[in-house]
Amino acid sequence: DKVRVFAPATVANMICGFDILGFAVNEPGDEVKMYRSEEKGVRIRSIEGDGGRLPLDPDRNTVSACVKMLLSDLGILADIGVEIELIKHMPIGSGLGSSSASTVAGLYAINSLLGNPLHKDELMPYCVEGERLACGHGHADNVAPALMGGITLVRGGSDLDIVKIPVPQDLYAGIVFPQVDVPTRDARQLIKEKILLKDAVTQWGNIAGLVAGLFQSDYGLISRSMQDVIIEPSRAILIPEFYTMKEIALTHGALSFGISGSGPSVVAMSQGPEAAEVVTAKIQAHLSEKGIESFKYVSAV
Ligand code: HSE
Repeated sequence: DKVRVFAPATVANMICGFDILGFAVNEPGDEVKMYRSEEKGVRIRSIEGDGGRLPLDPDRNTVSACVKMLLSDLGILADIGVEIELIKHMPIGSGLGSSSASTVAGLYAINSLLGNPLHKDELMPYCVEGERLACGHGHADNVAPALMGGITLVRGGSDLDIVKIPVPQDLYAGIVFPQVDVPTRDARQLIKEKILLKDAVTQWGNIAGLVAGLFQSDYGLISRSMQDVIIEPSRAILIPEFYTMKEIALTHGALSFGISGSGPSVVAMSQGPEAAEVVTAKIQAHLSEKGIESFKYVSAV
């Protein structure tokens, strides 16, 4: 009558694929423990690791709100008692899919607790609703890889055509989180509504090139394609030392460098872990010289 689920952090956009591409990392991630209780209703027992920032009110907390939505659709909300413990192992507002990891862990947990009435794919619409509650927009590029693992492509907007993309052996991500808070809601407001056709052509060439590169394990093509000419120029101003970090990454062996999700975390992709280790260490040293604390994570994709 109890389950414990871990869901990983995710790097949305994969630099060039705004709102459509994303990948999961090994760590960090969030954990949900869920228990059946005699008393009816869905309750949050405790939240750890959020610095007191997340609501305990089951209607306002994204995890419990999504669990309630699912129970309601199954027609059993009034008949069941569920208690939730949420343990956050990653910072909120970091661009690492923090809310997605919690939501995915919560939905996976309730489904398991009930004996899996839904197929994993059928949890996806609830995960997307969780994103909408968390940041005002229901994009699936964090929840899809958090639920499915690996690299995912979200095709078709609201139709939710989720496509798994193969992960080349040796593809690594070095992530640095400079400790400034950038809420996704704010980072989305900065983006221009209209884009130039020439930029669109460059960007969709990059997305197609990246996907082809991933299928062929062509690291040259992956490196050339992971560039964002549309979103990065608008969002870079929210991230301290962005262009210096980029220069450090690209001169120390990274395949590419960009914003993780909506930032402020940044990601350096590399072939093998070494370049990711070197680049993240150098970026941290630079940030520290500027008086900015940071965390780093290096993980296979
Ligand atoms: N694709 C989203 C964005 C990810 O860049 O705003 C953030 O959750």
